Amino acid sequence: MNKTICLLPGDGIGPEILAQAVAVLEAVAKKFGHEFRFESALVGGAAIDAVGDPLPEETLRTCRQADAVFLAAVGGPRWDSLPPEQRPEKGLLRIRKELGLFANLRPAMLFPELAGACLLRSDIAVRGLDLVVVRELTGDVYFGEPRGVEVRNGLRTGYNTMIYTEEEVRRIAWVAFETARKRRRKVCSVEKSNVLEASRLWKEVVLEVHRDYADVELSHMYVDNAAMQLVRDPAQFDVILTGNIFGDILSDEAAVITGSLGMLPSASLGASAPGLFEPIHGSAPDLAGQDKANPLATILSGAMLLRLGCDLPQEAEAVETAVRKTLADGFRTQDIMEPGMKAVGCKEMGARVVERLLS
Ligand code: IPM
Ligand code: MG
Repeated sequence: MNKTICLLPGDGIGPEILAQAVAVLEAVAKKFGHEFRFESALVGGAAIDAVGDPLPEETLRTCRQADAVFLAAVGGPRWDSLPPEQRPEKGLLRIRKELGLFANLRPAMLFPELAGACLLRSDIAVRGLDLVVVRELTGDVYFGEPRGVEVRNGLRTGYNTMIYTEEEVRRIAWVAFETARKRRRKVCSVEKSNVLEASRLWKEVVLEVHRDYADVELSHMYVDNAAMQLVRDPAQFDVILTGNIFGDILSDEAAVITGSLGMLPSASLGASAPGLFEPIHGSAPDLAGQDKANPLATILSGAMLLRLGCDLPQEAEAVETAVRKTLADGFRTQDIMEPGMKAVGCKEMGARVVERLLS
């Protein structure tokens, strides 16, 4: 199979972790007889420095022509004082919007090999944690108008708009129910319908969509309760369906309690290709350039890219298995290091996965 993949290394540890993930994809190509063509483009702070725009037109064009977009991470203290429109994060938000990537899938799971890293009490952790946050990605307060900061009655006043159309809710609800059908057939829709009108409509539309999914169990939860339940009893969740801002928060929470933030991948999909694949962690500027970062979340994002972006499920599984075996072999980057394990850097971790893949 021939595929073109647009690489967006971005900032901080981005370039080093993406290099390892690309090495893994190249090994996949070799093992399974595919041809992947990689094209790199600028995004985030790197693009601001080079051309003064966090998402240059040319990057967008390269993304649109690709079968899938593979992004590492954006942002860093160097660009923190820039106005919102010019910040690296804006590059990411614009790419989501421009490519119509409304569905963000963020799996969070406990790797058995890393059980010791889980932040939960062991009697809670033994019940397991294996869920997907299906987060709406192109609406909500993130993009709602009006927005701004202005002086009202002599006071500086900041405001944003939480807004969802029924169509936006419907299409993300479909994704959640379809995702659940491939898993344990449970969807929990998370909102704040006891307070917010936008959430009331959300719940109403989710209930309507559910009529076509009688085989999937649907529950509803207020976001504050969901934040609590994630810590109290995460085993109850299979698919969490939620909006952009609640999903931003809950997906970080779900990820960090596994203790493996450096392990978790994500996919952002639209109605048509290309999808965008990226680790859920950030650019970790304090680790950049030291060969210390954990490349596994990016490598596993590569697996999602193979499965959902290139329709290569067998290849995706091969990557996931290679990662598990590498962990079982005892190799650990510093973020997941435990006594008795073998400490490795970013490059060696990538090389070990490649070795496992090809063995
Ligand atoms: C994420 C990040 C982004 C978001 C930031 C970097 C704009 O936190 O992907 O979760 O808020 O969506
Ligand atoms: Mg976030």
